[in-house]
Amino acid sequence: MKNILVLHGPNLNLLGSREPDVYGRITLDEINARLKKLAETQGASVTCFQSNAEATLVERIQQARADGTQFIVINPAAFTHTSVSLRDALAAVALPFIEVHLSNVFSREAFRKESFFSDIAIGVISGLGAAGYEFAVQFALNHKNQA
Ligand code: DQA
Repeated sequence: MKNILVLHGPNLNLLGSREPDVYGRITLDEINARLKKLAETQGASVTCFQSNAEATLVERIQQARADGTQFIVINPAAFTHTSVSLRDALAAVALPFIEVHLSNVFSREAFRKESFFSDIAIGVISGLGAAGYEFAVQFALNHKNQA
């Protein structure tokens, strides 16, 4: 069975009330529920995890190496623009991953255009709101892992 890990970075626990003009009104629980349903209807599973702490996310990525995860969908949130350690963790586990952003980071402040992840991701989805996660999970469901 295909196991997909969906990781959410800092402040994404506040979705629904956080800057709704930028991030929409959907909550993180609603996004996660949609993703789990999408996977279940195709005989796969999605595990969702959110943390505001960089170290906790690094540890969760490391755990993915041994827990049967085959694909990662990650919105690193603010860590997108700062975190070498999260990038290194993803490189270390060597699992295919997609970088997702709810907002279009290229139409915002200049610092949001820089990502520590994009060049090692399979792809990047930015600006499609919650649907971006769904497209990423659907891609993961279709993706044939080489290992
Ligand atoms: C974000 C974009 C980041 O720049 C920001 O720090 C976030 C959310 C997005 O989903 O649009 O927290 O990753």
